[in-house]
Formats: sequence, C-alpha cells, structure tokens
Amino acid sequence: MALERTLSIIKPDAVAKNVIGQIYARFEQAGLKVIAAKMKQLSRKEAEGFYAVHKDRPFFGALVEFMISGPVMIQVLQGESAIAKNRELMGATNPKDAAPGTIRADFADSIDANAVHGSDAAETARVEIAYFFAETEVSPR
Ligand code: TYD
Repeated sequence: MALERTLSIIKPDAVAKNVIGQIYARFEQAGLKVIAAKMKQLSRKEAEGFYAVHKDRPFFGALVEFMISGPVMIQVLQGESAIAKNRELMGATNPKDAAPGTIRADFADSIDANAVHGSDAAETARVEIAYFFAETEVSPR
C-alpha cells in the first residue's frame, strides 16, 4: 500500500449543519491524517475552475451556485490508500445510493447537496491539492 494525499472538501450544506467535527472524526478513525486545512468562501471563479471538468454537464450551473452558497472546509488528507479510503468513507455521489454509515448516507440530502468532495484518482488529487494549497501550507509529515 502507498502513502497518498487526497483533497477533501466539506461542502456548504455540511458546514451549515455543523458536522465538520463529526466528519473529521471519521477521517481520523479511518487512519487519515489532516495535514492542511482552511475554511473558505469560494468565489464563483474558484468554484467554476475547480469543477471545470463538468462545465458542459447540465448540473454545472447549479453545482457552482451550491458551492458558493456558504463557506466550505477544505483539507488535505494523508494516509495509506487515502484516495480510495476517503471515497469509501464518502459513499456514492447520490446519497440515496450511498452505503449505510457513509458520510453521504448520514449527512447529505440530495445528489446536488451531497456534503463532501473527494479526489477520485492520483492525478486529480495532485491537481486539486495544488488548486487550493501552496506547498508551504501542507504539513511535511
Ligand atoms: P462527480 O464527480 O460525478 O461525483 P463525486 O462528487 O462523487 O466525485 O460530480 C461532482 C459533483 O457534481 C457531485 O458531487 C454533485 C454534482 N452532481 C450533480 O449535482 N448532479 C449529477 O447528476 C452529478 C453526476 C453530479
């Protein structure tokens, strides 16, 4: 197994529900370490840039509106197989399909307000971490 880093975002719906701590506890219990973190109100440009891969999808406009509807909590998680482990903790994109006990099953209301983001592969993790964090902001552990 490889020590990996992944980008996680606690989205505006989950921040508004005051469950940042409960979600962090799940990362920690799964052996993922928070090695960088910031709370931020995304600008429209930042949200559009982050989700640029989806810019031609029908849900893009609503996704951007949702992501700028309130502050988000952005963190870098590090651990063995961190990318897959975080995706497992998150559950399926649509909370209706998310396995019981996953973050989305427990905290998300709908496919468009689905509580968390997590990088889906090594290359996207690298790009997404660099999108929000300077190298000097990531703890060298
Ligand atoms: P996607 O990358 O497919 O999912 P995931 O977040 O699980 O990696 O989609 C990005 C986000 O776009 C998703 O978290 C919520 C939103 N979205 C919708 O609002 N409607 C949709 O039909 C899809 C597929 C995604």
